[in-house]
Amino acid sequence: MRGKHIILGVTGGIAAYKSAELVRRLVERGAEVQVVMTASAREFIGPTTFQALSGRPVRDSLWDSAAEAAMGHIELARWADVVLVAPASADFLARLTHGRADDLLATLCLATDAPIVVAPAMNRLMWANAATQANVATLRSRGVRLLGPGSGAQACGEVGEGRMLEPQELADHLAMLLVDSGPLSGRKIVITAGPTREAIDPVRFVTNRSSGKMGFAVAQALREADAEVVLISGPVHLPTPPGVRRIDVESAAQMADAVQAELAGTAIFIGTAAVADYRPEVFAEKKIKKTQQRLELALARTPDILAGVAASADRPFVVGFAAETDAVERHAREKLVRKKLDMIAANEVGACKAFDCEDNSLLVLWDNGRAELPHSPKLELARALVRLIIERWQAQGGDAVGEHAGQTR
Ligand code: PMT
Repeated sequence: MRGKHIILGVTGGIAAYKSAELVRRLVERGAEVQVVMTASAREFIGPTTFQALSGRPVRDSLWDSAAEAAMGHIELARWADVVLVAPASADFLARLTHGRADDLLATLCLATDAPIVVAPAMNRLMWANAATQANVATLRSRGVRLLGPGSGAQACGEVGEGRMLEPQELADHLAMLLVDSGPLSGRKIVITAGPTREAIDPVRFVTNRSSGKMGFAVAQALREADAEVVLISGPVHLPTPPGVRRIDVESAAQMADAVQAELAGTAIFIGTAAVADYRPEVFAEKKIKKTQQRLELALARTPDILAGVAASADRPFVVGFAAETDAVERHAREKLVRKKLDMIAANEVGACKAFDCEDNSLLVLWDNGRAELPHSPKLELARALVRLIIERWQAQGGDAVGEHAGQTR
């Protein structure tokens, strides 16, 4: 971030106090930060704090002739390498969507050709409101990047989605965005998610409790890091993360075929799917009739997709997941070695653990290293996992331009 020019827009919301910490984090990394406050932001925090932390007078008015004489708002818009609005209130997102130029920050957003990044922060119902969601969809379609929101306890006493991401996370994301578009920029990453269904007859199947939430969160985090993400998903009830290419499959065999078809040019493969290890040996073409007899179901092994990718010629960097009920580290390390993986993310599973929950924790292992990612919402965890994957992938030389698979632009 050294020498990068960041306009930090602060709008009205209780999360504005966290923006002071954000300025510190950005300045620590060598960025030059110009804070621009809206009138509502000043109701929550004073400009003196930002001035002290950024070393620059805060700008807050289009009509401040002294400030405009020093650097006019059009010059300021040109000066920026990125405009980050954190917190971005529901009102600001609405004004940005409608192209308003009714205060300095909104005007700068209209007048800049630098990337605009917003970190929404608001009450969960305001975030979920159809008007806000429509605004967000419009902004995304115009290339505005969203960081968050995260979920958890809110200042209003409610719990849900709408929390501004933590300053450290925002600074990490911005760093990825500014470092030549980030190390994953344009790299093809294939990820599997969700359960598979193994048909017994036309109306019955064998499956598991995976909801797909962990895998979809990892896909979103990869996309935020500007990767070209292909998400191969079993049957789940989740929307596709923006900008992600999704391929829906049902069975382990179909998932294996889809992965094989996408492997060319893939830099990193991540297996978060809970792929059924067994399928019914015989598929009954007609519905099996109930009788008075016991019914035995013979099961056959499914293909091991992850091990197959790791054994392929010109293999990508391969990350597996391990779902364990006991001896998590021992079993996961055994899978890391047996399947010849570069990294494995292990989670303890069981009643109300990992499968179909909003939160999770991961123990990440590689050849002679380990990292514990503490209990948190799956998207936050996914972002931390992506940072680790980038580190290990780079340590193995995976990002050397032109020498490895996966550079698509
Ligand atoms: O989907 P959620 O509800 O959010 O839950 C998330 C999760 C618990 C499913 C996820 O975090 C997780 O642990 N995914 C891996 C589940 C699993 O099948 O683990 P495993 O230990 O049985 O398999 C090890 C690895 O081999 C996994 O990467 C799996 O994708 C892969 N595998 C397994 C069998 C098979 N036939 N082919 C495979 O590729």
